[in-house]
Order: sequence, then C-alpha cells, then structure tokens
Amino acid sequence: MSVKVAMIGFGGVGQSFAEIVNEKQKELQQKYGLEVEIVAVSDVKKGAVYQSDGLNIPKLLDCVRRTGSLENYPETSQTIKGWSSLETIEQSNADVIIEVTYTDVKTGEPALTHCHRAFDTGKSVITTNKGPVALAYKELIEKAEDNEVFFGFEGTVMSGTPALRLPSETLAGNEIREIKGVLNGTTNYILTAMEEGMEFNQALEKAQALGYAEADPTSDLEGYDVRYKAAILSNHVFGVPLDPKDIFCAGITGLTAHDINEAAACDEKWKLLARIRQGNGVVTASVQPERIKNDDLLAGIMGATNAIVYECDLSGPIMLTGSGAGLKETGFSLLIDLIHCHKRKELSKT
Ligand code: HSE
Repeated sequence: MSVKVAMIGFGGVGQSFAEIVNEKQKELQQKYGLEVEIVAVSDVKKGAVYQSDGLNIPKLLDCVRRTGSLENYPETSQTIKGWSSLETIEQSNADVIIEVTYTDVKTGEPALTHCHRAFDTGKSVITTNKGPVALAYKELIEKAEDNEVFFGFEGTVMSGTPALRLPSETLAGNEIREIKGVLNGTTNYILTAMEEGMEFNQALEKAQALGYAEADPTSDLEGYDVRYKAAILSNHVFGVPLDPKDIFCAGITGLTAHDINEAAACDEKWKLLARIRQGNGVVTASVQPERIKNDDLLAGIMGATNAIVYECDLSGPIMLTGSGAGLKETGFSLLIDLIHCHKRKELSKT
C-alpha cells in the first residue's frame, strides 16, 4: 500500500530521510508492503513543490543539493510550486506529515502549529522536534487520538536509537521505577575528551566540527536539551506531565580539569545525567553532572554515544545505548515511526 508523505522542512534530516526511503524502497515494499511516496516538500528557505502523483526523489535531492532551492525542480502538468507549510499540510493529498522544520525549542513553533493543523485535517504527524512534544504532549496525543491519526516522535530522544519504543513495547508488563541516562552527545563528548586531557573549549570546538552540537551550543552545555528529553520521557513512559521548567537543571560549564582528575583518582567519572523517578504516582526529574563509580552501567558510555537505563521491577536494569544524534540516525528515526504508522493502519483494517 502506498503512504503519501509531505515533508515540512527539508534540511539535513529531511534530506537524509528522503535518501533512506529512496535506497530502501524495495526492502520496505517486500518486508512491510510499504510504498512511500513523497508528494510534497515545503521549506521556508528552499521553497516548495507538490505533485499529487509523487515527486522524483533523486531529482529532488539533486536539485536541492546543487542549487540549494526547489525552484528548478522539473515541472509536469501536475506540479504546484510555492505553497506555504500550512497550504501544503491542508491542501496536499498526504497521509503523513513529516515535520522537520527548524523549530524554537522554547516555544515549540512553528512545529506545534503544524502538528495541530495536520491533526485538524486528518493527517498523521511524525516529528523529530522536541519542543512541541515536551511542551504540549497531552494535548497533541489526545488530538491525534480524537482524529484517529498517528503521532510519532521517536527521534526526539536519542534520535534513531529507539529509547521511546523500548519502554512502551518491549518492556511492557514491567513497572519502571527510574529512568536514568546520558542523553546528550555533545556534553558526553566534551567530558570524555577532558578525561583524555583536552581543554573544555577545544573539546567543544571538536564536538561542533563533528556536527553533534546544536547551532547555539548553550542548550547542550547548560543541560536544556536534556531537560526537554526528560520531560518527554516523563510524559511518555510515566504518563505524568512535567513542565521542562520544573525540572532541576544544571549543565557542565562549571566542571574543571581539576574536578575530572579528582574523580578519576577515586575511580569515578563525571556524567551529565538525566534522572526521572516515579513513586506513588509522583514523578520527579533532574538534569545535572553527577560523579558515578567506574563500575556504574553508564560510566562506560564514552564520546558522543548516548545511553538510557530503565530500572524495571521484573527485568531489573535494562540499558539501551547508541547514537543520539546524526543526520542518518535522525532520518532513520522518522522511518521507524513511518513503518509503525503503516503497520497500525494495516492492523485497523483487519
Ligand atoms: N545536540 C544534541 C546532542 C543532538 O548533542 O546530543 C540531539 O538532541
């Protein structure tokens, strides 16, 4: 069955998703009976193109990569150019909106408006934007349910490493009492580099050059990025809304080489840890640098790698580790959700 997709935002993550869909076309068809058609792309900087019978993905990528714009995408009698994001959401024949715009995490906009408009018009949404999920989890989940559409946001925590699907599906039946994790690649990269003797600023520059850090790394360094992820985990795993502002948050900028060495002398390491605990229906969370023993599960997580530990009543601690950033990984997180969206639709038919 074909699933029609409209992409709102076509930066690195959006392009990576298009590339993955193009490469895996045959496999998706054979394994899941899923044929993905990208019918529209709308991007504030690159322009917009819509074709109800599907765009040619290699041509789309070639056009954007060569010219930085969709203006020269070859036209047919079906092609409409220049639609805004909202026009694309409302008027295209897409079943699923892939929302990967550049969004302000503090307000969740414009992604939040895009999610609402998509649900209002009976379309599913898959996003990697943390803002709308952390700030408006309940209202968006309820709206998607009321409109019988899918809302996927796997990539908001640990990108293509399925940190959200693990507790809701694989660990089902356990009571999860605590979640703790190393959920920011930039800061873990810096702390690891400092353990190896590098200066803070030099390590940050390297993390930026490798593409781990946000455009403005303040959100990484001060722990805000992790605070949004902790709010999403609280909502998603414990069903308890936590406002990011209510989560205690301290970053790594105060840590010195002396602190790192002092910990190492005691067989310990500094990690920027998120902790989300549940007890008697009350959830508390914190994000802060903590000194942990070298034999702690999370002490071996080095460089830009992320990891999350679910403390379960039946299975004990379960750890998932993998990349928490990267274009390919985040593009893949969109595919995880798209496959689940498709499976859910197929199931509802039986
Ligand atoms: N800047 C983030 C990190 C990427 O360093 O982990 C994804 O939130």
